[in-house]
Amino acid sequence: MTLRTCLTVILAAGEGTRMKSSLPKVLHPIAGLPIVGHVAKAVQGAGGSDIALVVGRGAEKVEASVRSLVGNITVHEQVERLGTGHAVLAAESAIAAGYDDIIVVFGDTPLIETSALDLAREKLAGGSDIVVMGFRPDNPHGYGRLIEQDGRLIAIREEKDVNEAEKKIGFCNGGLMALRGEHALALLRMIKNENAKGEYYLTDVVEIANSQGKSVIAIEISADNVIGINTRLELAEAETIWQNRKRRQMMLAGVSMQAPETVFFSHDTLIEPDVTLEPNIVFGPGVSIATGAVIHAFSHIEGAKVGANANIGPFARLRPGADLAAKAKVGNFVEVKNARIGQGAKLNHLSYIGDATIGADANIGAGTITCNYDGYNKYHTEIGTNTFIGSNSSLVAPISIGDNAYVASGSVITENVPADALAFGRARQEIKEGRAVQLRARYAALKLSKKAE
Ligand code: UD1
Ligand code: CA
Repeated sequence: MTLRTCLTVILAAGEGTRMKSSLPKVLHPIAGLPIVGHVAKAVQGAGGSDIALVVGRGAEKVEASVRSLVGNITVHEQVERLGTGHAVLAAESAIAAGYDDIIVVFGDTPLIETSALDLAREKLAGGSDIVVMGFRPDNPHGYGRLIEQDGRLIAIREEKDVNEAEKKIGFCNGGLMALRGEHALALLRMIKNENAKGEYYLTDVVEIANSQGKSVIAIEISADNVIGINTRLELAEAETIWQNRKRRQMMLAGVSMQAPETVFFSHDTLIEPDVTLEPNIVFGPGVSIATGAVIHAFSHIEGAKVGANANIGPFARLRPGADLAAKAKVGNFVEVKNARIGQGAKLNHLSYIGDATIGADANIGAGTITCNYDGYNKYHTEIGTNTFIGSNSSLVAPISIGDNAYVASGSVITENVPADALAFGRARQEIKEGRAVQLRARYAALKLSKKAE
């Protein structure tokens, strides 16, 4: 990779009114990560570790969100929105610090790929002064048209300023640009607002650079890369594209899926090869799944670690802090939260296991509940290795059940159970021989006397 220094200017001063949301536009999530977080991630992948974020008035939330994701950022407020050229110059102090490469990206284009930015930086390293990332939309209306001559980009004409011939050009500006740092500031400062909209267009820097004899080129990147989000409809469309990319990557990396279109990943989902995912699975953030595991249909998994060859679902819910060792089994209608499940332990049906540690090879019967909450505090349940918990038992935490212990079904366990002990936590059953016959006779007599009245 290149040793050139790089600053990325992320433009995010837009108001985002069409989202109809109290949340700033660029903070709406795709695969659980804010739109602008996707941009920052792609930029970092391309070696653009220094970021200048341009925000509008009162964008503390945007600033905090980006700061939490990337280290080296400066934030610049663009008080008045006077165009993309004006927005880039809001970050003048950062650009002036001196970088080999300056990349300008929009904060609302979450599907930008590192490879597109890499390509642009390669071109700068190869001697170009400005590289514009172009694409061919189905309908070019509304985009700046790229006007080329002999392989050089001589101008970008905005929709409102094009003539009839230029209108027909299908190669359009994706909005992203890379500039050689050495000349960037001088060129950007020459942008004027003499156009149909009275705005400072970043795109004018192309003609300015040409007039100075600089080398300007356009590279073509796929249309996906430059999709901008303006509405919740576009947000959902971008989510679909993101999910399809991720599914493809996962399958090519060795993950089996019968119905990939029904499996939803988070931005950070980690799955090893030879994992099988049945249909209809949702991954929230913070999940890793080790090799050989099978996740059956209709499972919801977030903040969980699943060990090798574990077997999950159908209809399982793994919540944050679920940590399953190899070969653990979590069956249907089982919820696990903040609990470590030992190797080979089985929780086959209808359980809630929260704030617990379960030893290896334990067998947790159907309907077992860890009663971890008394309305004020949460308490821990410790279950030893090779224990057997009978069906429909309530384990009232804090509680500890020793290794190899056996809990009778239907128990309410309120005191610790030592290792190797049998705990019988319910009233003993009584048998009254013949009593059922007597009962029926009495009811029959009652019925007769009622009729006689
Ligand atoms: C821009 C390009 C156009 C390109 C299109 C691709 C210019 C002049 N035009 O047009 O050639 O085809 O993107 O989508 O660059 N922003 C600010 N401050 C401002 C103005 C904009 O931060 O004062 C930010 C916006 O939040 C947005 C981005 O810059 O993220 C693009 O602005 P927008 O007004 O959407 O540009 P377009 O008119 O779509
Ligand atoms: Ca736009």
